[in-house]
Amino acid sequence: MYNRIARLWRQKEPQGQSGADLEKLLAKIDWNRMPRHIAIIMDGNGRWANSRGLPRFFGHKAGVESLRDIVRACSEFNVQFLTVYAFSTENWKRPQDEVNVLMDLLVEYLYKEIDELCQEGVKVNPIGKLNELPPGVIEALRMAVERSKINKGLVLNLALNYGGRTEIIEAVRAIALKVNSGSLSVDQIDVNTVSQHLYTSGQPDPDLLIRPSGDFRVSNFLLWQLAYTEFWHTTVLWPDFRRIHLINAIVEYQSRERRFGGL
Ligand code: FPP
Repeated sequence: MYNRIARLWRQKEPQGQSGADLEKLLAKIDWNRMPRHIAIIMDGNGRWANSRGLPRFFGHKAGVESLRDIVRACSEFNVQFLTVYAFSTENWKRPQDEVNVLMDLLVEYLYKEIDELCQEGVKVNPIGKLNELPPGVIEALRMAVERSKINKGLVLNLALNYGGRTEIIEAVRAIALKVNSGSLSVDQIDVNTVSQHLYTSGQPDPDLLIRPSGDFRVSNFLLWQLAYTEFWHTTVLWPDFRRIHLINAIVEYQSRERRFGGL
């Protein structure tokens, strides 16, 4: 596995992002213990732009390049699920211009990338209150879901107009309706019942959560699903985040002992 990935990456990036460093790190990966599901809070676009004296828009645009690299890397690594926090239920509070930029970038990303995503076997799976998104975004998502629905590789959960609390409220409502109609009894409600009513129903919980940009918050992301997720943190801003940082996160994740509350 290591040799295959190293060869692939050498071909794609002849100079290598950090050449020898990348290969040394790659060699440390235990291919039998890859995280099945990685979640990422893509934070720091605004700070990245500010630090260069640029409008925030440039940070978001640069953030799309990081997303491209990380989706490819996860796909090459045979990670099964990648969930990225692209737009939260709270992000509507940002200036309208910035919201428009984010929506436009998303639409552009989907139309530009769908061919390559399909070549790599990636299945696009948006999660969140999607019906509240602008019509152009809904149409682009519909196209991407339709085009990629038969793919068997990485599932790319795009969290859009996503909020962990809203997700749990929606699950509770759906469960309450079943109780009301008599198809479910209160005693039958357990962890699986709730999990099965979340946007991520049928998927394993994330093994690894990555938060770039130095903040230590969960920011209303995957509140239920992160119960036993390993958290990896870096001060690198999202637009500077590349596969070398992802590999660092994976290697550290593999060094941890996961006890899930046991001994
Ligand atoms: C947080 O950085 C980032 C976002 C709110 C949006 C993330 C979006 C992208 C990476 C690009 C577009 C997405 C797709 C799916 C094409 P911030 O603006 O809060 O940064 P700051 O905390 O430094 O201000």
